[in-house]
Amino acid sequence: MPIEIPPHWEQLSLEGLSGVLMVIGAPDTGKSTFARYLYTRLCACHERVGFIDGDIGQASLGPPTTMTLVVRQSGETDFPPGGPRTRFFVGATSPRGHMLPTVIGLYKLVRRAQELGATAVVVDTTGLVAPEQGGLILKHSKVDLLEPSAVFAIQRGCELEPVLVPLRRSARTRVVELPPASAIRPRDMVTRRAYRARLFARYFANAYPLEISWARLAVFPAPCFGRGQLVALEDAHGFALALGVVQEVDPVRQTVLLLTPAHSLEKVDAIRLGDIWLNPQTWEDSRWGNTGDRPTFGAGRLPEKEDLR
Ligand SMILES: Nc1ncnc2c1ncn2[C@@H]1O[C@H](COP(=O)(O)OP(=O)(O)OP(=O)(O)O)[C@@H](O)[C@H]1O
Ligand SMILES: [Mg+2]
Repeated sequence: MPIEIPPHWEQLSLEGLSGVLMVIGAPDTGKSTFARYLYTRLCACHERVGFIDGDIGQASLGPPTTMTLVVRQSGETDFPPGGPRTRFFVGATSPRGHMLPTVIGLYKLVRRAQELGATAVVVDTTGLVAPEQGGLILKHSKVDLLEPSAVFAIQRGCELEPVLVPLRRSARTRVVELPPASAIRPRDMVTRRAYRARLFARYFANAYPLEISWARLAVFPAPCFGRGQLVALEDAHGFALALGVVQEVDPVRQTVLLLTPAHSLEKVDAIRLGDIWLNPQTWEDSRWGNTGDRPTFGAGRLPEKEDLR
């Protein structure tokens, strides 16, 4: 469906804008739609533009739990651009309780975008802005770390005020305030959950069982695998090469059977355990596993020395 471009979007003067451009706002304020518009506008001024889907819940460029970077090569006009994608696995569908990996992942993706030659990088973010849920410290931490040249803030009422009050007075970034577009269609929790399940189903559509011996791989934080648990296979830079769902664990042979679209273990340096479990029938995610078959090994505790022999 075509998007509505409000006049205040068209009036934005973006010439000369470069570096990191962050889009923030509460859920359902049109962040992702505006971020894509911003990306398209920037393509007129920059040969290489990066787009980071930093929303690990309602993700747009990859499976939930991950953040994805794609960089436009010169001449490309479509969104998303077709080039290779760089992913970072946070392992959760909300930054709550996962603040450190969320900001570290964003930082690493911005740095990668710049290494790939992007002179402007649009960062779409999650809707977590409520101070009592950690949203305030999260948004300020992202600004401190990523040093955006501009923060595009979409606000419906005054829900972003705690974030914006100090930023407006600070010289560290420019705040561009926008009202939400009138065409926004809000989504309830059930719709959001179903959307995540569709993304997981699509991601794992061509997945096969792959047995991995973890004896020679790093396992972060430790090899406490549980059946149904979501994990990532990471390269030596800490980027996710593929996701997998744990099917079987053999602590004696130190092997884990994953359902994964990864074809080989080439470049795999580590396995990182996520904090969610997937139901392979419905692809719905849950925090603590779907059935009684939560961890078969480790059972939610860090491994004892004898487990790891
Ligand atoms: N300018 C627009 N024109 C048409 N549709 C829009 C526009 N802005 C948003 N929408 C629609 O409203 C819905 C929510 O928009 P969007 O996904 O951009 O919001 P968001 O703030 O990123 O949401 P979330 O908090 O879930 O990440 C989507 O279905 C989107 O297509
Ligand atoms: Mg969004």
